[in-house]
Amino acid sequence: MDKKEFLYEGKAKRIYATADPSLVVVEYKDDATAFNGEKKGQITNKGMLNNKIASFFFELLAAEGIPSHFVQQLSEREMLVKKLTILKVEVVTRNIAAGSLSKRLGLAEGTPMSRPVLEFYYKDDDLGDPMINESHIYAMEMATPEQIQYISETALRINEILTGYLKEKEIMLIDFKLEFGLYEGSVLLGDEISPDTCRFWDAKTKEKLDKDRFRRDLGGVSEAYEEILKRLTDGVK
Ligand code: TMP
Repeated sequence: MDKKEFLYEGKAKRIYATADPSLVVVEYKDDATAFNGEKKGQITNKGMLNNKIASFFFELLAAEGIPSHFVQQLSEREMLVKKLTILKVEVVTRNIAAGSLSKRLGLAEGTPMSRPVLEFYYKDDDLGDPMINESHIYAMEMATPEQIQYISETALRINEILTGYLKEKEIMLIDFKLEFGLYEGSVLLGDEISPDTCRFWDAKTKEKLDKDRFRRDLGGVSEAYEEILKRLTDGVK
């Protein structure tokens, strides 16, 4: 599927049209941002690593009966996906307190939650993606109750699948962010699942293997992304 005209550039990806109006090409960049774009940098090979990691996760989820926009990996940095009308809601699922949850509720990072926590954020860069609840979502008509039910159930199911898979690779899934969009009238999982959008800790050492290394200037950023890809695909043909 040939890449045609450039359509859109986000913080970490570029989107191109294809000959098929229902499909687009996603090109993953090495650019990294944090704190709503305030901190900017590059992570060596991040585009290639996240493309491979996200492709791997989307294939794993498809095999478990969870559809997504993913069609196929096209090259080192590119994947072919279904073109979604993205919903303005970001969904965060948390197993262990970290990041903004630790700050907001005064929980030490690493505190296990007794059940997964689901949070919604309004996808709006100008506002810095504020946290919202279902009442805001329906009042602002960002999604319907049926759509939020599907999104919530799917996020929790994805949490179970990924947590189980990663456990075997000695990786703890601390939390992750998902985005969904509309495709031919139904809700479909979109965006990416990668160390940019998840917190992964080494199960033994609790070392951070995700974008927190960039956010917090911990060094060894691309090495951490490489380690995730290596562990995911270790023993996979
Ligand atoms: P937080 O603790 O900063 O709210 O982040 C929760 C999870 O969501 C974490 O795995 C990182 C991910 N995330 C994104 O993917 N994009 C974002 O813009 C933010 C703030 C977090």
